Amino acid sequence: MKKIILDITKASSFLKEGAVESYKQQVNDARRSLEEGTCPGNDFLGWLHLPSSVTPEFINEIQSVADTLREKCEVVVVAGIGGSYLGARAVIEALGNSFSWLTGDKKNPMIVFAGNNIGEDYLYELTEYLKDKKFGVINISKSGTTTETALTFRLLKKQCETQRGKDEARDVIVAITDAVKGAARAAATKEGYKTFVIPDNVGGRFSVLTPVGLLPIAIAGFDIKALIQGAADMENATGTDVPFEENPAALYAAVRNALYAQAGKKIEIMVNYQPKLHFMSEWWKQLYGESEGKDGKGIFPASCDFTTDLHSMGQWIQQGERSIFETVLSIEKTNHEVLFPNDEENLDGLNFLAGKRVDEVNKMAELGTRLAHVDGGVPNIRLSVPELNEYYIGQLIYFFEIACGISGNVLGVNPFNQPGVEAYKKNMFALLNKPGYEAESKAIQERLAAEA
Ligand code: PA5
Repeated sequence: MKKIILDITKASSFLKEGAVESYKQQVNDARRSLEEGTCPGNDFLGWLHLPSSVTPEFINEIQSVADTLREKCEVVVVAGIGGSYLGARAVIEALGNSFSWLTGDKKNPMIVFAGNNIGEDYLYELTEYLKDKKFGVINISKSGTTTETALTFRLLKKQCETQRGKDEARDVIVAITDAVKGAARAAATKEGYKTFVIPDNVGGRFSVLTPVGLLPIAIAGFDIKALIQGAADMENATGTDVPFEENPAALYAAVRNALYAQAGKKIEIMVNYQPKLHFMSEWWKQLYGESEGKDGKGIFPASCDFTTDLHSMGQWIQQGERSIFETVLSIEKTNHEVLFPNDEENLDGLNFLAGKRVDEVNKMAELGTRLAHVDGGVPNIRLSVPELNEYYIGQLIYFFEIACGISGNVLGVNPFNQPGVEAYKKNMFALLNKPGYEAESKAIQERLAAEA
């Protein structure tokens, strides 16, 4: 089986000779500290050997719950935010038909994502859309108390019970949450929902290979065994026994840290040439942003969909401040073939492309952009993915996870916490007069009055 291939030559050429190799010791130490559980945040390392330790029985259990929802639902709403939704969405969109949201999917239930915002119109439109649908809900929240998700679940639970009756609703509502703590667990126990546990030692953004990602992906009709197999193979390819020079995650962690610390490259742009990968980049942004952005440090993770964004962000990338580098997700082989037809009149002047595949043009756009951006001073990392299927997406997921763990350690932060996320929540709860936030409510009202 092929592997995803990392090419850092067009990035290391922006660094002093030997710069990437100079990280070898640090990267190897970081990799070992993950393995030995001696790194900061070592109580959140449950993802490290997840792919190789998932049992066939567990996969079968997830598949059987997925089959029940597939049988009983036209639509399944995945309620979750951050790590509790981005991974599932990334995989489902990467593997699914780009137009199933318009045409419906005859074989599989529609998967709809909610609980990731507090848009009133979004929720109104969602509940309207669901009015005549047989729908189910997966309530995903590790803490079980996240406002966006809990609010959405409250609405959807009621609607599901009203439309299907309490007994039938019980069969199509699943909770994925902590084993004991949180409101989502309490509700699931009281209502008798099927539940899956998010292990204590797996943080949200590292949880896509737990039921958090696997259940929605299986409901959408994708092969979760192949996904796990891909991840397990990448686990092997990035183990402590793999030399630095042959370990793609080690090299990725090294080159991005070198670009950041030695070449002033503060922004990494994740680029794709397949619109289906938009949410892969969203997932990656959360993984790296929440893991590395702390203690006044961290590369800012951004993303662009090319060639679309070459007509918007392309100018900035080519000639703006030279503080960026690109990481390109390049898909070697598309799943379908479209040939440009010949046109006798050739009014559009495109006959020079007649008989060529669309992907040939896309690949030339990719190569041309790479050359132009490198000439313009943008280091370029390339990840070549043989094709878009479950197996290679599994490889990609684990590659980014392990590289993130290593990279955060090299940066000198704890990649597994997210203390900064609490600041907005505290203010929001104070402003909404949430019980328990009385002192904060008083303080924030005084501050707003003083600022008025
Ligand atoms: O990575 C993380 O830990 C976060 O992004 C969480 O996934 C997100 O905040 C959602 O939290 P919860 O699953 O507790 O609702």
